[in-house]
Amino acid sequence: MTLPGAEIGQNRVMRILGLFLLLAQSLLASESLKLFSPFPIGVGISDQIPSRPNDWALLKSQFTYITPENCMKPAAVQNQEGTWRWELPDAFVNFAVSNNLRLVGHTLVWAKDDRTPEWFCTTNKDLLLARMKTHIETVVGRYRGKIEMWDVVNEALDDGTNFLRPSCWSKASGEEFILKAFEYAHAADPNALLIYNDYNNELPSKLPKQVRLIERFKANKTPVHAIGLQGHYELDAVPFDAIEKALAEMKRLNMKVVVSELDIDVIPRARWWANNGAEREALSKVNPYKDGCPPEILRRQAEQYARLFGIFKKYSDQILRISFWNLHDGQSWLNEFPWKRVNHPLLFDRDGKPKPAYDAVIRELRQTR
Ligand code: GLA
Repeated sequence: MTLPGAEIGQNRVMRILGLFLLLAQSLLASESLKLFSPFPIGVGISDQIPSRPNDWALLKSQFTYITPENCMKPAAVQNQEGTWRWELPDAFVNFAVSNNLRLVGHTLVWAKDDRTPEWFCTTNKDLLLARMKTHIETVVGRYRGKIEMWDVVNEALDDGTNFLRPSCWSKASGEEFILKAFEYAHAADPNALLIYNDYNNELPSKLPKQVRLIERFKANKTPVHAIGLQGHYELDAVPFDAIEKALAEMKRLNMKVVVSELDIDVIPRARWWANNGAEREALSKVNPYKDGCPPEILRRQAEQYARLFGIFKKYSDQILRISFWNLHDGQSWLNEFPWKRVNHPLLFDRDGKPKPAYDAVIRELRQTR
């Protein structure tokens, strides 16, 4: 038997509990990377985003900045001299503006021959720089005031023993094309934040070259405002110590950083480039997680993402933005590169649902507040 007073008491407890659950639910629903992060969070997304309404809710709830995956690259915008293709980039920019998403432009010069439209290349330095100037003035000028940050030069540092990657750019002009690219971009939009972007530039093999380039920028008073660490990492091989060292080095040089293309590949790819590609034939058949990613792998990925964000947090004064590369696992470039396989490198699965890595990053970020 229950006494009347006890029943009233129980009802009250149930009501309070109910309210508490509702509150917890709404807090969970509003949980998001951008809410908890000490630095703005962005994402590189498909050029087709304006016509993909299914992606909009996830995009808008989690991310502050967007970078177009391909449509602003030189080969997309000006594949033939003087023939400009604005349809996709214009639609992308309009989409961002009308949805209050902030924009990163990518990229004005991609310092690799296979990523540079052929017509650009010439051994005549003045002509090369004039072509580059027209390209940069036109693209940056078109989106002046709308694109807040630009990846001005992408991937100019050499993977081997040279300072700069051999390309028609470096052959014709040495490092001058890099310095000039920033000057032209700055003139075209003096308010844009200008970034030098590269991969592996935190590693001992490239960091000294990155530092040397920054010192050139400083000596020359070149308007470079941040260094982009692309951040394409691999499970169990994330170079935590190198990343921390690179961030400390950037701090010493008083240079801001963006992490521009973050992901953690769960099907390690380094062997693709080993032994002059001898393992490619065998690797191209490797597709271990086509029916889903095992919980153990997801757990390790979560741990490694959290550790990474732990380091980023320590340098939050230094970091202007962290962008993932692609919205969810189903859209990652790593499903195709360097061979076709079902990959799981991001915080959201193929249905756009948060993975253990998402929870781990949120947990890590929440501890800052
Ligand atoms: C590089 C480029 C990006 C993109 C990725 C792969 O990191 O900077 O634009 O092409 O490769 O998608």
